[in-house]
Amino acid sequence: MGKILTGIRSTGVPHLGNILGVMIPSIKISNMNKKNSSFIFIADLHSMVKLSNMKSIKNNTYQIAAAWLAFGLNTENCFFYRQSDVSEVTELAWYLSCFFPYKRLTLAHSFKKKQNEKKKSKKEISLGLFSYPILMAADILLYNAEIIPVGKDQLQHIEIARRIASFFNKKIGKQLFKLPNAFLQKETMSISGTDGEKMSKSKNNWINIFSSDDILKKQIMSIRTDSKSLEERKNPEKDYIMYLYKLIASSEKVNEMKEKYIKGGYGYYDAKIELYNLIIRKFSTERKRFFSLMKKKSFLDGILYSGSKKIKSIAINRLNEIRKCLNFNPINL
Ligand code: TRP
Repeated sequence: MGKILTGIRSTGVPHLGNILGVMIPSIKISNMNKKNSSFIFIADLHSMVKLSNMKSIKNNTYQIAAAWLAFGLNTENCFFYRQSDVSEVTELAWYLSCFFPYKRLTLAHSFKKKQNEKKKSKKEISLGLFSYPILMAADILLYNAEIIPVGKDQLQHIEIARRIASFFNKKIGKQLFKLPNAFLQKETMSISGTDGEKMSKSKNNWINIFSSDDILKKQIMSIRTDSKSLEERKNPEKDYIMYLYKLIASSEKVNEMKEKYIKGGYGYYDAKIELYNLIIRKFSTERKRFFSLMKKKSFLDGILYSGSKKIKSIAINRLNEIRKCLNFNPINL
């Protein structure tokens, strides 16, 4: 595999969608990849677009870091860092923004969606939200990363990064930037939550495997179903419990549950308990590791600090290469 890079925003604990769609596949690739060809970071600068409480951004950073480690990211083999610790990326974002027509950014979904909201929230659209895709392009292009594991909602951002790269290359008449490719897992490219809508913390339809047993159970119990009684036969294809169960269970277990649905005499409550037990069992090691890492913030700080130290000189060297193309002086290390 080539260079892979991905970031998760520190806007809260990673939910099942982040974990299945981005974390697990990225860890698999990263741990198999050649040393230092994987870039995994916490997008705390991007988080500022959504949250203005910097304390909670910081606290969430620990949760994201602990989740990556709990799932087995080998930080010896990759670069694992906080975006804000490698601020070279913001300089590159500026260069990229100067060569890119702003009109193209007005077409980005995230911006358009906000534009269509009520007047009040429209007034609150920050310049940061508008230029979000530029910073994301800089994250990727600074290291010439080729494979970008993301959820489906990020596809347009990767497309914009490709455009930005080719615009820039054309402007300076040199193939300075490689065009990145999104890496999507088919089954998990967009994960639905407890109400069948896209899983998101803000919609409160998410499943947080790192919450306490009680809360996790509550989240699972809130999965929406139809009102069929226990005795009735049920359709396993049109059911959100089954949908979530399928994402995690073995095909054998899935078939067993399907049969119970079709046969009848098996209630949605039973299915929810089965899903709950599966999550607790399947992620027991990760949950334990997560809870214990969250008690060791200075350990997490240390890991992130050494990650950014390791990557800093690479970022500066690369930025100097870019600065040279722009006829700026190099930064001295
Ligand atoms: N925008 C991404 C998200 O919300 C996070 C992100 C920031 C990212 N920079 C990135 C993902 C670079 C991949 C590559 O999920």
